[in-house]
Amino acid sequence: MITIKSPANIAFIKYWGQSDTQAVLPCNDSISMNLSACYTTIQLEVHKDSTHKQLFIKNYKAADFVEDTGAAFEKVVRMYERTRQFLGASKEFGFTVRSENSFPKKAGIASSASFFSGLAAAFSTAFGESLDQKRLSILSRLSGSGSACRSVPDGFAHWRKGTDSDSSYAEQLAPPDYWDIADIVCIVNAEEKKTGSEDGHKNAQTSGLFPSRLRELNDRIPDLLAAFKDKDFSWFGSIIEEETVSLHAVMMTQKVPLYYWSGGTLNILRSIAAMRQQGTEAYCTIDAGENVHVITRKNDVKAVVKHVQTNKLAKDTIVNYAAEGVRILS
Ligand code: PMV
Repeated sequence: MITIKSPANIAFIKYWGQSDTQAVLPCNDSISMNLSACYTTIQLEVHKDSTHKQLFIKNYKAADFVEDTGAAFEKVVRMYERTRQFLGASKEFGFTVRSENSFPKKAGIASSASFFSGLAAAFSTAFGESLDQKRLSILSRLSGSGSACRSVPDGFAHWRKGTDSDSSYAEQLAPPDYWDIADIVCIVNAEEKKTGSEDGHKNAQTSGLFPSRLRELNDRIPDLLAAFKDKDFSWFGSIIEEETVSLHAVMMTQKVPLYYWSGGTLNILRSIAAMRQQGTEAYCTIDAGENVHVITRKNDVKAVVKHVQTNKLAKDTIVNYAAEGVRILS
């Protein structure tokens, strides 16, 4: 039995669109932070009988594990095959995977990143390989959920897009204790979204705004790195909000459009902007879902949580700090 814990991550500069769908190569670099309170725990039981393959999932706040025989199970089998291919392993085994999330899945909180980075670590360990961080990051990227590669290094990560499969992986930008910024996930809707990012990436380049987004990133990425280096939170925050709007403008203008924002999303965005006007520094970022990630400094966490809790459209909050990457627990 192998037990793995792997964090979700929130991107400050987002990955959207692929230059190579087969190899899961992104069109741009992305930068993220691992989340301390949003993680997946995976237990992998290995069987001699290689035809015995099962997946059980315990959802956020659920009491029991439930067997999944649908799309998620197929992706797990696909990941097992990709790991085998990546390692050039001749051995085969059967497995039972039990996966438990500390947060709602498929709701714009990177559950696929924590799940697939954990699965990459679990399967490679079961094949008897102890991968270094670079190779584990590459294998996680090959899962199909590219952002999984950023859950491998501890703390803050920079995924360089690279030019081929061997050069596209995430490296640590800074350890978790580098900066005490927090990500307060404001749950507007814990239900699973209808279109996942895997499908969304494929149509990114059909948006007329996509080329200008990539051009803007040529300045935005170095600016964000400079703000991070200087720990200039005002500059950093304004860049991440601008980046979020740029991402969602592309999503909304691709063919087929993706409208992830709901009224609740916009309401929280506006209320955080109003809070900023009153002097509390907090900024929003949003992934492929309607839930809002509010980024603030540790000293302002209590005030922001209190503020969000007065909003009836926010059903729950999860406070995260920068966390370590994927870990083999046993
Ligand atoms: O890695 P994927 O395929 O789950 O895509 C992630 C897409 C975003 O969450 C919207 C952005 C990101 O960089 O995390």
